[in-house]
Amino acid sequence: MKDQPGSPGPLLRSAAAALSRILDPTIVLSFDRSGFRRHAINFDPADLDADLKGRTCLVTGANSGIGFATAEGLAARGASVWLLCRSRERGAQAALALREATGSRSIHVATVDVADFGSIRRFAAGFRAGAVDVLVHNAGVLPDERVLTADGNELTLATNLLGPLLLTLLLLPKLRASGAARVIFVSSGGMYTQRLSAADPDWKSRRFDGVAAYAQTKRMQVTLAELLAEALAPFQVVVHSMHPGWADTPAVRSSLPRFHAATRHILRSPAQGADTVLWLAVSAVARHSSGRFWFDRKARPTHLLSRTRETPADRQRFRALCAERVPEFRSLAAAAPPAPSRPR
Ligand SMILES: NC(=O)c1ccc[n+]([C@@H]2O[C@H](COP(=O)([O-])OP(=O)(O)OC[C@H]3O[C@@H](n4cnc5c(N)ncnc54)[C@H](OP(=O)(O)O)[C@@H]3O)[C@@H](O)[C@H]2O)c1
Repeated sequence: MKDQPGSPGPLLRSAAAALSRILDPTIVLSFDRSGFRRHAINFDPADLDADLKGRTCLVTGANSGIGFATAEGLAARGASVWLLCRSRERGAQAALALREATGSRSIHVATVDVADFGSIRRFAAGFRAGAVDVLVHNAGVLPDERVLTADGNELTLATNLLGPLLLTLLLLPKLRASGAARVIFVSSGGMYTQRLSAADPDWKSRRFDGVAAYAQTKRMQVTLAELLAEALAPFQVVVHSMHPGWADTPAVRSSLPRFHAATRHILRSPAQGADTVLWLAVSAVARHSSGRFWFDRKARPTHLLSRTRETPADRQRFRALCAERVPEFRSLAAAAPPAPSRPR
């Protein structure tokens, strides 16, 4: 990081890094807003100095929280931003607010329910942009009850894993056409509690536990990002997963009311939660790796506990689940050679 006038000096930066080595293992003082401020001392502000004019960026669940803040950061840098929202009305309201906040005239809304394969297929078939440069899988749910989608998938699995996988694969020709595309999964620190498991993904033979279903599908997102990173490397598509820490958003208020009540004074703002999503979408640094898991602009381990480490057989069962539910995943390995890059 280059020293700029007003930027923290090397002493402060090394003190912040040393403090993080002590405080980050507490989780609370890392995922909270004090953690963000401390980690941010070592951010390079120049990483976000990007001109995204001519780039097309898609953000699912962009009408509130982290998705909205991500869309705002992309639009403010000149990108053509598509808000993929399940409610046309909430999408239109968000677009209005984003146009006012950024002055952008390139904000578009598409009605897409990422838990519904038909909705995803209709969107992908009708999407006319020549290339997709950034695809952010941000939409997420933590339902109280077991619900099956029209496709027969449990809702958490469909929203957090299967829909994003299908959307990525249907948009692959446009991601390839970018020549430098980035796909980002907004996972959760909750995934650290889970070992990858494809057993009973629809909760048919267990009492439904929304928090566990959420955390398991967030673990699945991290593994999927690793698998896709490998499979899409020949197409110059990089794939990242990340977690935002704890941010004060409608999802946290409605799905985890007790957690929200206990932590509301220390939660990050949605923009702080979105910072690493934006950084992965725009920074030059984030084009140089693929398949890693990020938090506050740093690659992080995908396991904190030895009991969550999966076996090769767990990964194989997970691949089989993806291939069974999303047939396009089967042909990925046999995909054609990369399309020519679009000139920039
Ligand atoms: N906030 C945190 O502390 C935190 C921590 C870890 C991970 N995350 C992750 O961050 C992401 C964003 O969440 P948030 O905290 O910003 O909450 P949020 O403000 O409630 O945003 C969630 C978004 O997802 C959308 N969504 C849900 N199901 C959808 C579907 N089937 N199709 C399309 N859109 C759908 C919601 O749309 P509606 O408005 O129509 O419901 C909303 O726009 C999620 O993936 C979440 O798991 C958040």
